[in-house]
Amino acid sequence: MERDKKAADKLAGHISLLDLKNRTPEQIDDLLRFTDQMRPFQELMMKYECAMYEVRTKLDVLNKELSLKNNRNPFESIKTRIKSPISLYEKMQRKGLDFSLDNIRDNISDVAGIRVICSFVDDIYMLADCLKEQDDIRVLEIKDYIACPKPSGYRSLHLIIEIPIFLTHYKEYMRVEVQFRTIAMDFWASLEHKMKYKKDIKDAETISEDLRFSADLINQLDRRMQQIREKIEDK
Ligand code: GTP
Ligand code: MG
Repeated sequence: MERDKKAADKLAGHISLLDLKNRTPEQIDDLLRFTDQMRPFQELMMKYECAMYEVRTKLDVLNKELSLKNNRNPFESIKTRIKSPISLYEKMQRKGLDFSLDNIRDNISDVAGIRVICSFVDDIYMLADCLKEQDDIRVLEIKDYIACPKPSGYRSLHLIIEIPIFLTHYKEYMRVEVQFRTIAMDFWASLEHKMKYKKDIKDAETISEDLRFSADLINQLDRRMQQIREKIEDK
């Protein structure tokens, strides 16, 4: 009896910890198996968090240097996030992968994510180039959805990089995804994201068309704004 009660308490603890509302029993089983690895999982997430801070600091340093030099900020805002256990789990299910720490490391590039929002498109490339050239960074992948937008109309520049973190006894390279967008691209992506995740939308096809059309307008607007800025700066 006592043992059953303990097991039930442990189960309840894990369930609230991982926010398992609306999961299927199979998913709960999988996650509970994974909770035997809770400690190593937390260690892995801690390493991703440290890597995210390292990259964020690099971007903040560039922002400080460049704003002094050019009299304007190369980026307007920056957001960081670590993927939650449940969205990690769901992503791995979508990819047909077992939930294991090795699989997270080898197959998920956006556990640590940084989003950099710039005013102008040229600032995006300038910042990305500065980051890519730093000698402790390894660039694994570049996806230029600004030059080649997705069929939805999505635009952004994505870099998957690795950065070393220095722990007490060793150093380790960790992956970080950095997304660069303009303010206008970010505005578009937030609205489109809402539509993607809302089920049973009326006129979904018309809305998608509208969004593609708006993505083109936003692209033109971004280019215009840059041209105007260049004129003001008399380049
Ligand atoms: P996943 O991370 O599995 O999606 O890998 P992937 O290879 O498809 O990566 P991709 O670079 O295409 O997308 C990674 C991230 O970019 C997503 O998690 C979103 O944050 C963002 N993204 C990509 N495509 C879209 C899109 O069509 N609309 C919006 N709103 N965001 C997108
Ligand atoms: Mg994707």
